[in-house]
Amino acid sequence: MIRMTLDEIAKVTGGRLVNAAPSVAVTGAVEYDSRKIGPGGLFVAFEGEKVDGHQFAPGAVEKGAAAVLSIRDTRQPGVVVDEPLTALAALARAVVERLPELTIVGLTGSSGKTTTKDYIGQLLARAGATIAPAGSLNNELGFPYTVLQATEETRFLVLEMGARGIGHIRYLCEIARPQVGVVLNIGAAHIGEFGSVEGTALAKGELVEALPATGVAVLNADDPLVAGMAPRTTARVLLTGEAAEAEIRATNVVLDAAGKATYTLHFNQQIGNVRLGMAGRHQVANTLAAAGVALSLGMTFEDVAGALGEIGIMSSRRMDVFVRPDGVTVIDDSYNANPSSTAAALHALAAMSTGGRRIAALGYMAELGEHERDGHEQVGRLAAELGVDRLVAVAGNARPILDGATSVQGWTGEAIFAADQAAALEIVRGDLRAGDVVLVKGSRYRTWDVVDGLRPEEGRP
Ligand SMILES: Nc1ncnc2c1ncn2[C@@H]1O[C@H](COP(=O)(O)OP(=O)(O)O)[C@@H](O)[C@H]1O
Ligand SMILES: [Mg+2]
Repeated sequence: MIRMTLDEIAKVTGGRLVNAAPSVAVTGAVEYDSRKIGPGGLFVAFEGEKVDGHQFAPGAVEKGAAAVLSIRDTRQPGVVVDEPLTALAALARAVVERLPELTIVGLTGSSGKTTTKDYIGQLLARAGATIAPAGSLNNELGFPYTVLQATEETRFLVLEMGARGIGHIRYLCEIARPQVGVVLNIGAAHIGEFGSVEGTALAKGELVEALPATGVAVLNADDPLVAGMAPRTTARVLLTGEAAEAEIRATNVVLDAAGKATYTLHFNQQIGNVRLGMAGRHQVANTLAAAGVALSLGMTFEDVAGALGEIGIMSSRRMDVFVRPDGVTVIDDSYNANPSSTAAALHALAAMSTGGRRIAALGYMAELGEHERDGHEQVGRLAAELGVDRLVAVAGNARPILDGATSVQGWTGEAIFAADQAAALEIVRGDLRAGDVVLVKGSRYRTWDVVDGLRPEEGRP
């Protein structure tokens, strides 16, 4: 964080200074995990359901924290506030106000936010100091936490924005208003909460509504609900995609035997060849969006086209493809799952031609509400249509995936139900041979135990 005195912190958060002189300053990072605290930092104590962060306040100060932000007086130098999340938001807002040179990029969408945030971070880092931390820090805690990492040196701040309801993204934009806003796609993620994809579009579009007239909205031309957000912004609209109307456009998309795309990139009469290092056709859309951000922030076409071939996914368990010493390829896409991202992963699996069988172990997809049964069946149908040889549904409520698959006429693959992760691992591991490709995907829920069991020991994230 930028240097701030406790007096200033108390003012912006509406808190009360305790056990310290007003001039005591925070000069280090803001952390809510006391193990991460460093010299001059600010430790934020949350009252969790299981653990009360207040008990770690003395330890944090011993480790060098300059102060503690908490709801109760911890007898340490600090600021006492009513509600730490609100205080964190206020603090983040104050930091942004004090950094007028900072360019903020916000991105949202149903799938691919973390991946694309990683791409944008790597592109912009070539133009200036950039904050885009690995992982998915996109909610009312992770968002201000990321904002608070900005300092006077930072030129670009890349922020992932998640929404589980109307008003969520608007709230995040009030903490740190982006200059450039990206909407990737609207799919069935969290559809249980939104009710429909139109409801999701309404919520995600709050990002483009928050942009200033001098800003840029980077919108996916290939997703009608996203392209349809154009009238909701006063910012300049930059369409990206494969459609003819996209200003930043990919043509000649071809996937190689490893499922990695090459394409021709077009922008303003300029043309470049891009060869991606990440698997999956969906990376074309993600990298076009990232290119849209970089180009609208002044990077040259040559730099962007060149850099796209060098970037990768920094956050774990997203299309993390590894080949084992025995020649089996494994796709760890187990961080999360919804019908759209599972479709993307299944297409990637189908695109890989390594000479062996295609095996998919798919777990339960959470948060689908009344679309739960449909969503699972749909994914199963697609797996069968794409010719998956062995489909394993991992644990209880993933079973409808198999119903979907077996409803496909002419599918000759196997449909197997595994009662839990250990059983799925046994089934998958059973008779693996060189050339086989295994996809593991699910909404966390330990689906990643399956993929960890397939990893060589040292490779576990
Ligand atoms: N454009 C896309 N369309 C569909 N699925 C995608 C896309 N980009 C990434 N994915 C997949 O979605 C899942 C979540 O990716 P992630 O980047 O963590 O997205 P988010 O942060 O939006 O949850 C991963 O399995 C990833 O491979
Ligand atoms: Mg994410």
